[in-house]
Amino acid sequence: MKVDMEKMVSLCKRRGFIFQSSEIYGGLSSCWDYGPLGVELKRNIKEAWWRAMVQEREDIVGLDSSILMHPKTWVASGHVDGFADPMVDCKECRQRWRADDTKDGRCPDCGGELTEPRMFNLMFKTFFGPVEDETATVYLRPETAQGIFVNFASVMNTARKKLPFGIAQIGKAFRNEITTGNFIFRSREFEMMEIEFFVKPDTADAWLNYWLEERFNWYTKLGIKGENLRLRQHAKDELAHYARSCYDIEYLFPMGWAELEGIAHRGDFDLAQHTQFSGKDLSYFDPDSNERYLPYVIEPSAGVDRSALAFLLDAYDEEPDKDEIRVVLRLHPDLAPIKVAILPLSRNESLIPMARDVYADLRKCFVTQFDDAQSIGRRYRRQDEIGTPFSVTIDFQSLEDNQVTIRERDSMKQIRVPRYIGELKRTLEAKLSGEPLDVLPPGGSYWLGFEG
Ligand code: GAP
Repeated sequence: MKVDMEKMVSLCKRRGFIFQSSEIYGGLSSCWDYGPLGVELKRNIKEAWWRAMVQEREDIVGLDSSILMHPKTWVASGHVDGFADPMVDCKECRQRWRADDTKDGRCPDCGGELTEPRMFNLMFKTFFGPVEDETATVYLRPETAQGIFVNFASVMNTARKKLPFGIAQIGKAFRNEITTGNFIFRSREFEMMEIEFFVKPDTADAWLNYWLEERFNWYTKLGIKGENLRLRQHAKDELAHYARSCYDIEYLFPMGWAELEGIAHRGDFDLAQHTQFSGKDLSYFDPDSNERYLPYVIEPSAGVDRSALAFLLDAYDEEPDKDEIRVVLRLHPDLAPIKVAILPLSRNESLIPMARDVYADLRKCFVTQFDDAQSIGRRYRRQDEIGTPFSVTIDFQSLEDNQVTIRERDSMKQIRVPRYIGELKRTLEAKLSGEPLDVLPPGGSYWLGFEG
């Protein structure tokens, strides 16, 4: 079901996914803080990406380069001259806009007359060391990509890689965006997951196609509905200065189709520029074809925050439940912030020791939450709303037969399984990996029921 942004912002705040930054001081616009659930969701997104892009592949290695880089980097990359948006000011209300957002030629807020466009560089500047002058100016990186390019030779040599191979990096980036908004979609501080994939020039087009498919499928495997995703090729006049061609994977956000990830064919632009500006030869000797050349680069570049927003929006569902509406986040189990909730049927003191025992055991294996406040029905709803795939309930019967109930978020079906950690852990692991709930391990005394 489609959810509007306001509802999502409110859920995120209410449940502790995402808060406005510096809220007690009135907030800092377009900066966001991830609360206890948000930080788990983000970690899970990054972990899923790293696993699929680095761990499970033999042709990509990781890197964590520093945010502050030699200022020449950004001259070579073209960011000092070229990383700018045209900006206009409203002469009436003084609001500042990206020229792209004022297509009608009048202020979108008050209809006032606009100034001529001026270029505005999006890089944040700061000073390096104690002297605050021009020579000490450094930038907060606007992309993680350049940290990869300047380390290309060191990584290739130490990791003993041959082309084709890639370098992956996850990290913060900063852009002094002129207009922001749409929650975490466009912020001034955000996290990126980038791969620079180095290939032999005459294979670059084939690799571009490969990465379009690979990256599209990554989102659908993690639960995003195919109909909410599309590929869009950049028109010639919207290509970034470094790109020979570029595609966006777009998601159907509440404000319309918008970029989730960019996949660019960067040619040899970056390695050529860094060779020229650093004086270091970054060419590659190809032992197979006995020739030396500058590798071409295919770059899948994704935003962690935009992905988080898309995963949340896509997972949101509402369904009638008796006289109420059940809100469910149908997050993929790999992404769900809490995997298992431990819920004693009530606060009755005879139930608590076993419930706390199960909690102590399970939290060594999964991110778990213990909750004994309010009725069991309300607690199930709370877990549904934050996307917890399974709850484990301890009731009076459990004290007699040492079995507990596992309740599934999506179907609300329940099974009974022995409470012992080995058994419970194995069963939950299987269910979290996609085994249907009604596949019961052999030899147990299980029953199937529905939430009553
Ligand atoms: N190195 C290539 C590059 O930086 P980009 O299209 O400018 O490409 C890549 O950025 C991704 O980073 C975008 O697809 C988006 O997911 C994310 N991103 C870019 N600017 C952002 C912002 N201001 N706030 C949140 N995410 C942003």
